Amino acid sequence: MSHRQITLQILRYNPQDAASKPCLQSYTLEKADGMTLFIALNEIREQQDPTLQFDFVCRAGICGSCAMMVNGRPRLACRTLISDLPKKIILAPLPFFELIGDLSVNTGKWMRGMSKHLQTWLHSQEESPDLNRIEERMEPEEAEAVYEMDRCIECGCCVAACGTAQMRQDFVGAVGLGKIARFRLDPRDTRADGDFYELIGDDSGVFGCMSLLACHDVCPKSLPLKSQIAFLRRKMAQTSIRQE
Ligand code: SF4
Ligand code: F3S
Ligand code: FES
Repeated sequence: MSHRQITLQILRYNPQDAASKPCLQSYTLEKADGMTLFIALNEIREQQDPTLQFDFVCRAGICGSCAMMVNGRPRLACRTLISDLPKKIILAPLPFFELIGDLSVNTGKWMRGMSKHLQTWLHSQEESPDLNRIEERMEPEEAEAVYEMDRCIECGCCVAACGTAQMRQDFVGAVGLGKIARFRLDPRDTRADGDFYELIGDDSGVFGCMSLLACHDVCPKSLPLKSQIAFLRRKMAQTSIRQE
């Protein structure tokens, strides 16, 4: 094999097809300068195997749909350079999420369920909320903190890397805990601390998190998951002490 050639081993499986069995399939292609995994996968699909399933929308690290396991670590295919990977590249779908086929998983379905469960939208206690408040000026530090958490692209990498999520299907993941942190930081949300903690105060939430911190290490948007989860845990503990 020339030094310009690379081989991708891809876990293939179609759960819709009763005859399909999970197997690793190898594809060899020419490496190009600046080639991302996304470009390599497209080339394979266009030139070698039109049946290969994987997802993408934006190609720019914004939509979160191209996340997959790359040599055992969740990454965005469109932001991963082939030149940054070792010679042997093994691709698999994100674990935890419903498999659609090959590298394609249904993160959207899980994210919608999690958002509904955690009520990840602005709440107002007023009967007829003043919609102008949405545009109200925030302190720059408050706006910065909310904006930072809003950069989550719901890619699912944090959940795929988390040991708790592999054991508990109902775990809301770092993405869920991060969303609670985001709305708690937002001065326009009128929920009290207790309301937030009711949503995450059990093993499916903050008490399920074992501080493994893989979520923090793999988040492609570098969200401050470690500090936000630690903050929620501290606040939860203080709230339960006060209630005793
Ligand atoms: Fe992806 Fe990070 Fe959001 Fe998790 S917190 S879904 S890793 S962007
Ligand atoms: Fe999982 Fe992150 Fe907690 S990896 S256990 S959510 S610190
Ligand atoms: Fe949108 Fe990769 S294609 S994040």
